Amino acid sequence: MVDENSGYDRKAKSPLGDLGVSNSSSHLRVQRLIFLVGYMGCGKSTKAKQLAHRLQCPVIDLDAEIVNKSGKTIAEFFEEFGESGFRDYESETLKTYDYPENCVIATGGGLPCFFDNMDWMNAHGETVYLEMEPAQLVSRLQNRQKRPLIKDLDDEQLLEFIKIKLEERNPFYRKSKIIINAFDLDAETLEHALNESKGFTN
Ligand code: S3P
Repeated sequence: MVDENSGYDRKAKSPLGDLGVSNSSSHLRVQRLIFLVGYMGCGKSTKAKQLAHRLQCPVIDLDAEIVNKSGKTIAEFFEEFGESGFRDYESETLKTYDYPENCVIATGGGLPCFFDNMDWMNAHGETVYLEMEPAQLVSRLQNRQKRPLIKDLDDEQLLEFIKIKLEERNPFYRKSKIIINAFDLDAETLEHALNESKGFTN
């Protein structure tokens, strides 16, 4: 689902200029898809909007797209089809979405860890792991009703759960081309990290 909150205006001429034409500004010239990955609560959706705003390109939230396409909330989807049904649908959504040429994409926390999704994202664009400590994630996950995997856990249980999950998930997340500490991360620093990333800029 393309989110207009990035400030991107489809009708306006792209400030990035035509693709293939060098941009003299110091701003990063977006040429590809930028996937933000990481655990629930690490700030993927917010950072995706902020980065897209800086780059003046659309932002896509794959969880929102799943909700939009299926007509169900994530919680309802899990209830009706179970986690495996959700993972199938999530992977299909990732791979069949009609992406604009340049955009920032917020992914669901589990998406990189199923099927070949992580390899697929690496093959199709930039991948950025927004890394955060378990205790920081707990403090950011106080409102968890809409997240079926953790909705029934108290803070102590959640901390243990996240530690175990990160052990499992980090090998996938860490396949990202860029790994960045997401605590107090601002979009400018994120853009800079992408700029520095080999093979990304013109
Ligand atoms: C999940 C993360 C959620 C959502 C679903 C499963 C996970 O996305 O896809 O509840 O397995 O970590 P967010 O990371 O955007 O909360």
